[in-house]
Amino acid sequence: MSRILLVDDEPSILSVLSTLLKTEGYDVEPVNDGEKAKELLASDDFDLLLSDIRMAPVNGLELLKIARGKKHPLTTIMLTAYGSVETAIDALKLGAFDFVTKPFKVDELLITIQRALEFSNALSENASLKEQLDSRYHIENIIAESAEMQDTCEMIKKVAPSETTILIYGESGTGKELVAKAIHSYSKRSKGNFLAVNCAALPEALLESEMFGHVKGSFTGASSNKTGLFEAANSGTIFLDEVGSIPLAVQGKLLRVLQEKEIRAVGSNKTIKVDARVLAATNVPLEQLIQEGTFREDLYYRLSVIPINIKPLRERPDDILPLVMHFIQQDIPQNSEPPSLSPEAKLLLETYSWPGNIRELENAVKHAITFADNNQIEVNNLPARIATSQGNTIQSTVNNISQTENYAPQPLKDFLKNQERIYLKQILAQNDDNKEKTAATLQVSLATLYRKLTE
Ligand SMILES: Nc1ncnc2c1ncn2[C@@H]1O[C@H](COP(=O)(O)OP(=O)(O)OP(=O)(O)O)[C@@H](O)[C@H]1O
Ligand SMILES: [Mg+2]
Repeated sequence: MSRILLVDDEPSILSVLSTLLKTEGYDVEPVNDGEKAKELLASDDFDLLLSDIRMAPVNGLELLKIARGKKHPLTTIMLTAYGSVETAIDALKLGAFDFVTKPFKVDELLITIQRALEFSNALSENASLKEQLDSRYHIENIIAESAEMQDTCEMIKKVAPSETTILIYGESGTGKELVAKAIHSYSKRSKGNFLAVNCAALPEALLESEMFGHVKGSFTGASSNKTGLFEAANSGTIFLDEVGSIPLAVQGKLLRVLQEKEIRAVGSNKTIKVDARVLAATNVPLEQLIQEGTFREDLYYRLSVIPINIKPLRERPDDILPLVMHFIQQDIPQNSEPPSLSPEAKLLLETYSWPGNIRELENAVKHAITFADNNQIEVNNLPARIATSQGNTIQSTVNNISQTENYAPQPLKDFLKNQERIYLKQILAQNDDNKEKTAATLQVSLATLYRKLTE
């Protein structure tokens, strides 16, 4: 039942309207005083505010402003005396849904109320959908259409507020740094620094001083004191990128810092307490490095209190086209028409194996936008490596299929796989790249189709 807050300082109108609306089945809260209405607006939830404009000391426009300023703005209809249309127009400017002049016609009033409530329902449905989306999956800047990436986003939101160390694993270009930044920005430390150090880029001595600082004269070239990142990240987050490359000697020191939460700068005998949350990333499984003897197992356990695995792009094809759209939007000037994708280009983007993952996709999109003619991205606008990846424009696969002789000797399994792939592409093209239709034609599930396309 819709709840209406009804405000009018004229007792007769208040009682007539209140009875009318109750008989129409609304849950009405009649109030004859603006102050009381203000309190109710603050403390209670209504679906509609129906208020007279001219009241003292709190007039209807003031109530309107409060109603519209709420987190979920309240839909409002104003009642106005005949002849004061100007005030009514002010009300519309302030966001009133509509106004009804007194003396009002009952039908007109009831229809306006009905329309206003429909409008308000639609708005609140949208708002709750948006909230659901925001809270469940959506993290600013992270495109997550696939179930895999949605799980990762949920994980980010769950683990961000804690203080635990997190180890992010993913192939090159899968978004490890993006995920680390998201964890930082959803954490209690979001106002502090996010400092990244690429452990693969620095030789041992420099890496140590970068992380923990050094005092003047502690080694050749140390011409002044230097604050390390652990100290600089105080009450923020430090991101150890490519953590698998840390030399063994520095690993020992890092382990001690994680355990004791204090550092000692190179060449100093003073310890300093530090308060930095550690996130680490690697594209080589650390278990493998432990086997090879280049990574300390005890450090591994310290770092991977919570592991996050980011799937490679080829295992989450549902993300490909949304990412393409995202990068197109980022790359084109504001207000300009985004380029479209030819069906062949779309298919290739969706079926290419993306060894360089999202970074490679991002570069491919930028490349294609630069070379596209007539605002349409074609296969040959993509970087050559991708465009020629399977020698396959759709036309050439269709040609291939009619070429039924002179196959090179090969295991039957490979031959069948190859034919299957060619056939899949042909049916996909016939169905205008619609995967649901293609799966239906082939009588396989959508998941099977995706798996076959990415194999
Ligand atoms: N899910 C995503 N949504 C939007 N953009 C993404 C997503 N994942 C990655 N990117 C973008 O792709 C690029 C590469 O991501 P990032 O640098 O985080 O990857 P990485 O795993 O740290 O790569 P590397 O292993 O090369 O260090 C960045 O521009 C990033 O913004
Ligand atoms: Mg990175």
